[in-house]
Amino acid sequence: MHVKLDVLEAQGYAVLRDYAGPPVPDSEWSGLEYMEWKSGGDTNFAPIASALGEMECAGFWDHGKPDKDGMWTKNAEICPTLVRYVEDIGVRYGRVRIIKLNPNTYEDAVRNLHLDDNNRLNPEEEGWVVRAWLQLTDDPDSYMILREEKDDPSTETRIPMPRNRQMVIDSERLWHASWHPGPNPRYALITSLESGPALRRWIEREERPNGDEAGVQHGAMK
Ligand SMILES: [Fe+2]
Repeated sequence: MHVKLDVLEAQGYAVLRDYAGPPVPDSEWSGLEYMEWKSGGDTNFAPIASALGEMECAGFWDHGKPDKDGMWTKNAEICPTLVRYVEDIGVRYGRVRIIKLNPNTYEDAVRNLHLDDNNRLNPEEEGWVVRAWLQLTDDPDSYMILREEKDDPSTETRIPMPRNRQMVIDSERLWHASWHPGPNPRYALITSLESGPALRRWIEREERPNGDEAGVQHGAMK
């Protein structure tokens, strides 16, 4: 069985304290090369680490690898702050990418709910791969929609996405998609991370102050 983290067991996600490190210049996401890749809506992705360091968005399994040991692409040269951010997590990482999401509606987001394929080829004795999000644009009225059951709105959680929001999601367990009213595209950094002691340490280090729920809402409400 894969190693999983108890801190993610109850809910399948953790909202961390907001990122307070060196500011990420706009150029570190607006200046990257994006590729046509649809996942969870009208999206494009900028690969920063890929299976072999090539500019591609495909799963690592295409190259016989689990979603770990990502290699920096040429985009990494343009976003040193983000590269440092990922390395400072101190966890074995796989895919590192920026998602660009064009505006959508709540109904679109629900239609786009999906599970990620994070653990293909992941050896049983190694840690379960989950994903971390770092919100780059300031979209406090946009939400990460999570559901335990795809068609059951009562299992829904909404996490608002102001700039610097950090969250870890077991995105192979929870159905997810972003609801982003816009008007401008939303950008976020998404990193695949291996569960284990190092990830636990990072989550503990980045824990939100007690009682600060980050505006998270439970249950579907329009
Ligand atoms: Fe996803």
